[in-house]
Amino acid sequence: MLLDGKAYSQKLKEELKKEVEALTNETGITPGLAIVCTNYAEASKIYVKNKLKAAKYCNIFASLIEVSLDISENDLIALIEKLNKDEKYHGIIVQLPLPPHINEQRIINAIDEKKDVDGFGICNKGKLFCGMPTINSATPQGIIKLLEEYNIEIASKHAVVVGRSNIVGKPMALMLLNKNATVTICHSKTKNLKSITSKADILVVAIGKANFITKDMVKKHAVVIDVGTNKVGNKLCGDVDFKKVAKKCSYITPVPGGVGPLTVVSLLENTVIAYKKILNIE
Ligand code: GUN
Repeated sequence: MLLDGKAYSQKLKEELKKEVEALTNETGITPGLAIVCTNYAEASKIYVKNKLKAAKYCNIFASLIEVSLDISENDLIALIEKLNKDEKYHGIIVQLPLPPHINEQRIINAIDEKKDVDGFGICNKGKLFCGMPTINSATPQGIIKLLEEYNIEIASKHAVVVGRSNIVGKPMALMLLNKNATVTICHSKTKNLKSITSKADILVVAIGKANFITKDMVKKHAVVIDVGTNKVGNKLCGDVDFKKVAKKCSYITPVPGGVGPLTVVSLLENTVIAYKKILNIE
Protein backbone atom coordinates (compact mmCIF):
# COMPACT_ATOMS: atom_id res chain seq x y z
CA MET A 1 0.00 0.00 0.00
CA LEU A 2 1.18 3.47 -0.83
CA LEU A 3 1.98 5.88 2.00
CA ASP A 4 0.62 8.98 0.32
CA GLY A 5 2.71 11.80 1.73
CA LYS A 6 1.37 14.25 -0.79
CA ALA A 7 -2.28 13.77 0.21
CA TYR A 8 -1.46 13.77 3.92
CA SER A 9 0.66 16.91 3.57
CA GLN A 10 -2.26 18.66 1.86
CA LYS A 11 -4.51 17.78 4.81
CA LEU A 12 -1.90 19.10 7.25
CA LYS A 13 -1.47 22.30 5.23
CA GLU A 14 -5.21 22.98 5.38
CA GLU A 15 -5.15 22.53 9.16
CA LEU A 16 -2.08 24.73 9.54
CA LYS A 17 -3.54 27.44 7.33
CA LYS A 18 -6.63 27.60 9.57
CA GLU A 19 -4.49 27.71 12.70
CA VAL A 20 -2.30 30.49 11.27
CA GLU A 21 -5.38 32.53 10.34
CA ALA A 22 -6.79 32.21 13.87
CA LEU A 23 -3.43 33.06 15.48
CA THR A 24 -2.83 36.04 13.22
CA ASN A 25 -6.33 37.38 13.95
CA GLU A 26 -5.76 36.96 17.66
CA THR A 27 -2.31 38.55 17.88
CA GLY A 28 -2.08 40.79 14.83
CA ILE A 29 1.32 39.19 14.18
CA THR A 30 2.03 36.88 11.23
CA PRO A 31 4.37 33.91 11.77
CA GLY A 32 7.61 34.61 9.91
CA LEU A 33 10.29 32.33 8.49
CA ALA A 34 13.68 33.46 7.16
CA ILE A 35 15.36 31.15 4.65
CA VAL A 36 19.05 31.81 4.08
CA CYS A 37 20.40 30.19 0.94
CA THR A 38 23.76 30.18 -0.85
CA ASN A 39 22.44 28.06 -3.76
CA TYR A 40 25.62 25.96 -3.43
CA ALA A 41 23.66 22.90 -4.58
CA GLU A 42 21.47 23.22 -7.63
CA ALA A 43 18.70 21.22 -5.89
CA SER A 44 18.51 23.84 -3.09
CA LYS A 45 16.66 26.18 -5.44
CA ILE A 46 13.83 23.67 -5.88
CA TYR A 47 13.63 22.82 -2.18
CA VAL A 48 13.53 26.52 -1.25
CA LYS A 49 10.91 27.27 -3.90
CA ASN A 50 8.69 24.51 -2.45
CA LYS A 51 9.13 25.92 1.06
CA LEU A 52 8.23 29.46 -0.05
CA LYS A 53 5.17 28.25 -1.96
CA ALA A 54 3.86 26.16 0.94
CA ALA A 55 4.47 29.01 3.41
CA LYS A 56 2.49 31.38 1.23
CA TYR A 57 -0.34 28.85 1.04
CA CYS A 58 -0.48 28.67 4.84
CA ASN A 59 -0.29 32.48 5.21
CA ILE A 60 3.14 32.27 6.80
CA PHE A 61 5.38 35.19 5.89
CA ALA A 62 8.57 33.70 4.43
CA SER A 63 11.59 35.61 3.13
CA LEU A 64 14.32 34.19 0.96
CA ILE A 65 17.68 35.74 1.78
CA GLU A 66 20.12 34.73 -0.93
CA VAL A 67 23.77 35.23 -0.13
CA SER A 68 26.80 34.96 -2.36
CA LEU A 69 28.67 31.68 -2.65
CA ASP A 70 31.89 33.27 -1.40
CA ILE A 71 30.36 34.82 1.72
CA SER A 72 32.69 34.41 4.71
CA GLU A 73 31.73 32.39 7.77
CA ASN A 74 31.81 35.52 9.92
CA ASP A 75 29.56 37.50 7.55
CA LEU A 76 27.08 34.63 7.51
CA ILE A 77 27.09 34.51 11.31
CA ALA A 78 26.57 38.29 11.43
CA LEU A 79 23.53 37.88 9.15
CA ILE A 80 22.11 35.15 11.40
CA GLU A 81 22.64 37.28 14.50
CA LYS A 82 20.69 40.07 12.81
CA LEU A 83 17.86 37.63 11.99
CA ASN A 84 17.90 36.31 15.58
CA LYS A 85 17.03 39.83 16.74
CA ASP A 86 14.49 40.52 13.99
CA GLU A 87 11.01 40.19 15.50
CA LYS A 88 9.42 39.52 12.10
CA TYR A 89 11.01 36.08 12.06
CA HIS A 90 10.04 33.30 14.45
CA GLY A 91 11.96 30.69 12.47
CA ILE A 92 15.30 30.76 10.67
CA ILE A 93 16.78 28.08 8.45
CA VAL A 94 20.01 27.96 6.50
CA GLN A 95 19.55 25.78 3.45
CA LEU A 96 22.23 23.08 3.31
CA PRO A 97 24.69 22.18 1.92
CA LEU A 98 26.91 25.23 2.34
CA PRO A 99 30.10 25.81 0.33
CA PRO A 100 33.07 23.81 1.66
CA HIS A 101 34.93 26.85 3.10
CA ILE A 102 32.12 27.23 5.65
CA ASN A 103 31.74 25.13 8.81
CA GLU A 104 28.06 24.18 8.62
CA GLN A 105 27.60 23.26 12.26
CA ARG A 106 29.15 26.55 13.41
CA ILE A 107 26.64 28.44 11.24
CA ILE A 108 23.64 26.41 12.41
CA ASN A 109 24.67 26.81 16.04
CA ALA A 110 24.52 30.59 15.58
CA ILE A 111 20.74 30.36 15.08
CA ASP A 112 18.84 31.19 18.27
CA GLU A 113 17.68 27.83 19.70
CA LYS A 114 14.09 29.13 19.83
CA LYS A 115 14.17 30.02 16.11
CA ASP A 116 16.02 26.85 14.97
CA VAL A 117 13.00 25.40 13.13
CA ASP A 118 15.13 22.82 11.31
CA GLY A 119 16.12 21.48 14.73
CA PHE A 120 19.71 21.17 13.50
CA GLY A 121 21.46 23.15 16.26
CA ILE A 122 23.29 21.36 19.06
CA CYS A 123 20.74 22.49 21.69
CA ASN A 124 17.78 20.96 19.88
CA LYS A 125 19.81 17.90 18.88
CA GLY A 126 20.96 17.46 22.48
CA LYS A 127 17.38 17.59 23.72
CA LEU A 128 16.38 14.96 21.14
CA PHE A 129 19.25 12.79 22.38
CA CYS A 130 17.94 13.09 25.94
CA GLY A 131 14.32 12.41 24.90
CA MET A 132 13.28 15.94 25.98
CA PRO A 133 10.68 18.07 24.15
CA THR A 134 12.46 19.84 21.31
CA ILE A 135 12.09 21.22 17.81
CA ASN A 136 12.34 18.06 15.71
CA SER A 137 14.07 18.04 12.32
CA ALA A 138 11.49 18.25 9.58
CA THR A 139 12.16 15.09 7.54
CA PRO A 140 12.23 12.53 10.38
CA GLN A 141 9.34 14.33 12.10
CA GLY A 142 7.30 14.07 8.87
CA ILE A 143 8.10 10.35 8.65
CA ILE A 144 6.94 9.69 12.22
CA LYS A 145 3.72 11.58 11.51
CA LEU A 146 3.15 9.61 8.31
CA LEU A 147 3.61 6.27 10.14
CA GLU A 148 1.17 7.42 12.83
CA GLU A 149 -1.37 8.63 10.25
CA TYR A 150 -1.46 5.11 8.80
CA ASN A 151 -1.62 3.55 12.30
CA ILE A 152 1.69 1.77 11.78
CA GLU A 153 3.01 0.50 15.09
CA ILE A 154 6.54 1.68 15.96
CA ALA A 155 7.01 0.38 19.51
CA SER A 156 8.87 -2.95 19.70
CA LYS A 157 9.41 -3.04 15.91
CA HIS A 158 12.87 -3.50 14.45
CA ALA A 159 13.60 -0.26 12.61
CA VAL A 160 16.63 -0.12 10.35
CA VAL A 161 17.87 3.29 9.24
CA VAL A 162 20.25 3.31 6.28
CA GLY A 163 22.24 6.56 6.36
CA ARG A 164 23.73 8.48 9.29
CA SER A 165 23.48 12.13 8.27
CA ASN A 166 22.79 14.80 10.88
CA ILE A 167 19.75 15.90 8.85
CA VAL A 168 17.95 12.56 8.48
CA GLY A 169 19.67 9.33 9.57
CA LYS A 170 20.75 10.20 13.11
CA PRO A 171 17.65 12.16 14.21
CA MET A 172 15.45 9.52 12.55
CA ALA A 173 17.12 6.75 14.56
CA LEU A 174 16.74 8.70 17.80
CA MET A 175 13.07 9.54 17.15
CA LEU A 176 12.29 5.88 16.42
CA LEU A 177 14.20 4.90 19.57
CA ASN A 178 12.24 7.47 21.60
CA LYS A 179 9.09 5.78 20.25
CA ASN A 180 10.40 2.45 21.60
CA ALA A 181 11.52 0.81 18.36
CA THR A 182 14.61 -1.41 18.38
CA VAL A 183 16.88 0.57 16.09
CA THR A 184 19.85 -0.37 13.91
CA ILE A 185 21.78 2.29 12.00
CA CYS A 186 23.59 1.23 8.83
CA HIS A 187 25.97 3.31 6.72
CA SER A 188 28.55 3.15 3.95
CA LYS A 189 30.99 1.09 6.06
CA THR A 190 28.38 -1.44 7.22
CA LYS A 191 29.31 -5.00 6.27
CA ASN A 192 26.69 -7.33 4.85
CA LEU A 193 24.01 -4.64 4.65
CA LYS A 194 21.46 -7.01 3.15
CA SER A 195 21.56 -9.30 6.19
CA ILE A 196 20.46 -6.33 8.33
CA THR A 197 17.97 -4.55 6.03
CA SER A 198 16.20 -7.84 5.35
CA LYS A 199 15.36 -8.11 9.06
CA ALA A 200 13.74 -4.68 9.24
CA ASP A 201 10.05 -4.29 10.08
CA ILE A 202 10.48 -0.60 9.28
CA LEU A 203 13.19 0.32 6.80
CA VAL A 204 14.13 3.98 6.36
CA VAL A 205 16.58 4.70 3.55
CA ALA A 206 18.40 8.02 3.23
CA ILE A 207 21.64 7.53 1.35
CA GLY A 208 21.16 9.34 -1.96
CA LYS A 209 21.84 6.40 -4.29
CA ALA A 210 19.21 5.74 -6.93
CA ASN A 211 17.43 2.35 -6.67
CA PHE A 212 20.04 1.10 -4.18
CA ILE A 213 17.65 -1.01 -2.06
CA THR A 214 16.53 -3.98 -4.10
CA LYS A 215 13.77 -6.52 -3.45
CA ASP A 216 16.14 -9.14 -1.98
CA MET A 217 17.21 -6.63 0.72
CA VAL A 218 13.68 -6.15 2.08
CA LYS A 219 11.66 -8.39 4.41
CA LYS A 220 8.23 -9.50 3.21
CA HIS A 221 5.50 -7.15 4.50
CA ALA A 222 8.03 -4.56 5.75
CA VAL A 223 7.25 -0.84 5.88
CA VAL A 224 9.63 0.99 3.53
CA ILE A 225 10.32 4.72 3.79
CA ASP A 226 12.35 6.17 0.93
CA VAL A 227 13.97 9.52 1.69
CA GLY A 228 16.07 9.61 -1.49
CA THR A 229 15.50 12.15 -4.24
CA ASN A 230 17.84 11.28 -7.06
CA LYS A 231 17.76 12.57 -10.59
CA VAL A 232 18.14 9.87 -13.22
CA GLY A 233 17.99 11.51 -16.62
CA ASN A 234 15.24 14.01 -16.06
CA LYS A 235 13.25 11.73 -13.77
CA LEU A 236 13.20 11.78 -9.98
CA CYS A 237 13.66 8.48 -8.23
CA GLY A 238 14.28 7.32 -4.70
CA ASP A 239 16.91 5.13 -3.03
CA VAL A 240 14.57 2.13 -3.30
CA ASP A 241 13.81 0.08 -6.41
CA PHE A 242 10.16 1.06 -6.04
CA LYS A 243 8.45 -1.15 -8.63
CA LYS A 244 9.86 -4.44 -7.36
CA VAL A 245 10.00 -3.62 -3.65
CA ALA A 246 6.39 -2.35 -3.66
CA LYS A 247 5.19 -5.85 -4.57
CA LYS A 248 6.90 -7.38 -1.53
CA CYS A 249 6.37 -4.87 1.28
CA SER A 250 3.17 -3.85 3.10
CA TYR A 251 3.65 -0.07 2.87
CA ILE A 252 5.98 2.11 0.81
CA THR A 253 6.49 5.83 0.15
CA PRO A 254 6.69 6.87 -3.50
CA VAL A 255 9.26 9.33 -4.87
CA PRO A 256 8.12 11.97 -5.58
CA GLY A 257 5.02 12.38 -3.42
CA GLY A 258 6.15 10.53 -0.29
CA VAL A 259 8.46 12.03 2.29
CA GLY A 260 9.31 15.29 0.45
CA PRO A 261 5.97 17.12 0.84
CA LEU A 262 5.84 16.19 4.54
CA THR A 263 9.28 17.68 5.17
CA VAL A 264 8.00 21.04 3.97
CA VAL A 265 4.86 20.92 6.13
CA SER A 266 6.84 19.86 9.22
CA LEU A 267 9.11 22.86 8.74
CA LEU A 268 6.09 25.19 8.63
CA GLU A 269 4.53 23.48 11.65
CA ASN A 270 7.81 24.02 13.50
CA THR A 271 7.69 27.70 12.55
CA VAL A 272 4.22 28.01 14.09
CA ILE A 273 5.36 26.12 17.21
CA ALA A 274 8.32 28.53 17.54
CA TYR A 275 6.01 31.53 16.99
CA LYS A 276 3.68 30.36 19.77
CA LYS A 277 6.62 29.81 22.15
CA ILE A 278 8.10 33.22 21.38
CA LEU A 279 4.73 34.98 21.79
CA ASN A 280 3.88 32.91 24.87
CA ILE A 281 0.69 31.44 23.42
CA GLU A 282 -0.72 28.30 25.18
N1 GUN B 1 19.11 20.36 2.79
C1 GUN B 1 18.51 19.17 2.58
N2 GUN B 1 17.49 19.01 3.45
C2 GUN B 1 17.45 20.12 4.22
C3 GUN B 1 16.60 20.53 5.28
O1 GUN B 1 15.67 19.84 5.72
N3 GUN B 1 16.88 21.75 5.80
C4 GUN B 1 17.90 22.53 5.36
N4 GUN B 1 18.12 23.71 5.94
N5 GUN B 1 18.70 22.16 4.38
C5 GUN B 1 18.47 20.96 3.81
